[in-house]
This record gives sequence, structure tokens and C-alpha cells, in this order.
Amino acid sequence: MPQPEIEIRALHKSFGDNHVLRGIDLDVARGDVVCVIGPSGSGKSTLLRCVNLLEEPSSGQVFVGGTEVTDIEVDIDAVRRRIGMVFQQFNLFPHVTVTQNLVLPQRRVLGRGKAEAVKVARENLERVGLADKADAYPAQLSGGQQQRVAIARALSMGPEVMLFDEPTSALDPELVGDVLAVMRVLASEGMTMMVVTHEMSFAREVADRVVFMDGGVIVEEGPAAQVVGDPQHPRTRDFLNRILDPSAAEAPGSEGGGPAAG
Ligand SMILES: Nc1ncnc2c1ncn2[C@@H]1O[C@H](COP(=O)(O)OP(=O)(O)OP(=O)(O)O)[C@@H](O)[C@H]1O
Ligand SMILES: [Mg+2]
Repeated sequence: MPQPEIEIRALHKSFGDNHVLRGIDLDVARGDVVCVIGPSGSGKSTLLRCVNLLEEPSSGQVFVGGTEVTDIEVDIDAVRRRIGMVFQQFNLFPHVTVTQNLVLPQRRVLGRGKAEAVKVARENLERVGLADKADAYPAQLSGGQQQRVAIARALSMGPEVMLFDEPTSALDPELVGDVLAVMRVLASEGMTMMVVTHEMSFAREVADRVVFMDGGVIVEEGPAAQVVGDPQHPRTRDFLNRILDPSAAEAPGSEGGGPAAG
């Protein structure tokens, strides 16, 4: 078997005495899309942030493209360059144009010359369908367009893998589709992706595997059709019932914080 693009071994992360990740083992093959699902607070964001070292793992190992990124000798900036990340909030620079949002990090982080950085920016804006917005400012774009710019910005750095943390959660429903469409294209082009999402239709269609996390461990993982379509673990079933039909969600003894019916 070829070496996985991302390997996570016995990963633990604590914040003070809050033991958030409790032994995560996960492989992502090159070109695969893994969707990570699970309740709020289960550690999904922390897991992604440990992969690109936005958080320092408490113990365990992470390898990206065969390099141990958790090695204390590693050049963290070099690691981050190989890993693109897209957040719920787009974090674009508000005071410069869309093109400059893509150009500046290439210049600063990769030391690319201006002409090349602009060329790469154009190519990636085209890739996300926003070539016509090159000279706009972020505030002039819809949330969905801003998120596509954020994806194009990450792609401009030439990453080997892309991490998405709930990239559509802050968007109005009618804008979600355009962002997912871009992610579908990336997946079909062979990008290795880890995607934290509540978009189950996306997971079913695009993910090679779905991982269900709860309480800092992987409770269940497998092909999307299996984990989403025929979950084996009661916690997975309960979670899916709640997100697919919030009104059906009253577990006995729960606080019942879901939206009021009718
Ligand atoms: N920087 C931090 N400092 C302290 N505690 C943190 C930090 N980041 C996360 N946590 C804690 O880690 C736990 C898991 O948080 P995390 O954000 O990974 O969950 P999540 O699964 O992404 O949740 P959500 O679905 O709400 O985004 C929570 O208890 C959270 O309070
Ligand atoms: Mg999160």
C-alpha cells in the first residue's frame, strides 16, 4: 500500500486539564477526501489544527507526505506552506483587493516575484469562478464569493493537502452550493482533503471516508454510504438523527435545547 498523505498516530491534545483529543489514529490516502463529523466540542477543529500545527499536540505523531510535522526539529512555517486551511470565517484582508489577498501571502511566505504571484492569483481565481472579481474588495462580495476567494488564496500557495473547517457554516443557505461545487472540483482533481462539515449530502457524494468523532475519539469510520447511510454505533445514529432532523432530537433525559417545534 502506498504511504498515506496524512498519518495521525495516537494523537492527544489537552488544554489544561481538558483532555480534548484522546488518542486519534487516522490515515488519509493521497487524493482522498475524508469528512469529519461529530457534535460540538468533540474536537474536530482541534484535530485539524493539530495537523497543521496551529495547535501543538500534547502527544502522538502527525505525518504529512511522509514528513513528521510533530518532530520538534521541524520547520513549522515550511509545514504550514504545504497545508492549506480554510475556516468558517474567511479572514480576508479587508483593505486590499481580491487579487492582492492572493498575492501578498505568496510574496511574503513563498518569496514569489510579483508577476508570478499575480499570474498564480489569476489562475486560482479562475479555478473558483471569480476571475471577474479580481479587482473587487472583499466587502463587495457575497459570503460565498469571499469563501471562494479564501479557497483560491489557500490554493495559490500550492498546498499538498487542504483542510476545511466548516467552510459553509457561516453562509446563507443559497450560497453554500457554490462553495461546495468548488470543493467538489478540487476533490475530483485529486486534492487530498480533510473536511469538517455538517453537509451530509456533500459527505455522501464526495467523501471517500467519513469519520464520526465524539468525546475526542473516533467512534466510527468508513465509507460515507456506511457511516452516514447505515451507522453502526448508537452515538453516530443519534448524532445523524439530530442533524438530519433537529425536531426528532429529544434524547430522554437531555436538556432539550433544540429549536422549538411549530
Ligand atoms: N485554544 C483553546 N484553548 C482552550 N480550550 C480549547 C481551545 N480550543 C478548543 N478548546 C476546547 O476543546 C474542546 C473541543 O473544541 P473543538 O473546537 O475542537 O470542537 P469542535 O468539535 O470543533 O466543535 P464545534 O462543532 O463547535 O466547532 C472544547 O471543549 C473547547 O472548549
Ligand atoms: Mg469546530
